[in-house]
Amino acid sequence: MPERSRVAVLISGRGSNMAALIYASRADDCPYEVRLVTGDNPDAPGLGLAKAEGVPVVRLATPTPKTKDHYLRDLHVLLEKEAIDLITLAGFMRIIPEDFLSRWEGRIVNIHPSLLPKHKGLRTHEACLAADEKVSGATVHLVTPELDSGDILAQVEVAVLPGDTAETLAERVLIAEH
Ligand code: GAR
Repeated sequence: MPERSRVAVLISGRGSNMAALIYASRADDCPYEVRLVTGDNPDAPGLGLAKAEGVPVVRLATPTPKTKDHYLRDLHVLLEKEAIDLITLAGFMRIIPEDFLSRWEGRIVNIHPSLLPKHKGLRTHEACLAADEKVSGATVHLVTPELDSGDILAQVEVAVLPGDTAETLAERVLIAEH
């Protein structure tokens, strides 16, 4: 079997997309393995889950405006040390600066809970409902300096139901994200 790509997953919270990536990687024919889970919140619940699943976890301190450069340097060194091929942002709620992105160009993907280019940024489900959309969905795209604007790699549509709230819609879109 060819060698699997070495993937790092970056999270900020719950980590359900991270878990979906880890479980999918257990299939014999999966082309990647999750070599590292880290993020910007050392207390993110998803980190405990990754650890329990036997995936290496590194708990980096939450960056502040003062420590941001240091944090990004540490993150880059960590990714290089683990010989990471691809980075997945899975609920990583932080904008990554251009100089960091340029070192990983074409090798960072993000999971976003809308049918991009519609409803970029935060509060996507609220925006979708406010726009009276009949369909929402999930997008996987390359990360570029412009927020939620890189090439789209895959999308899954999710019907908006009458009476949906941001919470009920988010629950179904999350299934599509996974
Ligand atoms: C997911 O819905 C993901 O698409 C979203 O945060 C949630 C994280 O859930 N990400 C963004 O909105 C990024 N702009 P998870 O921690 O359970 O995967």
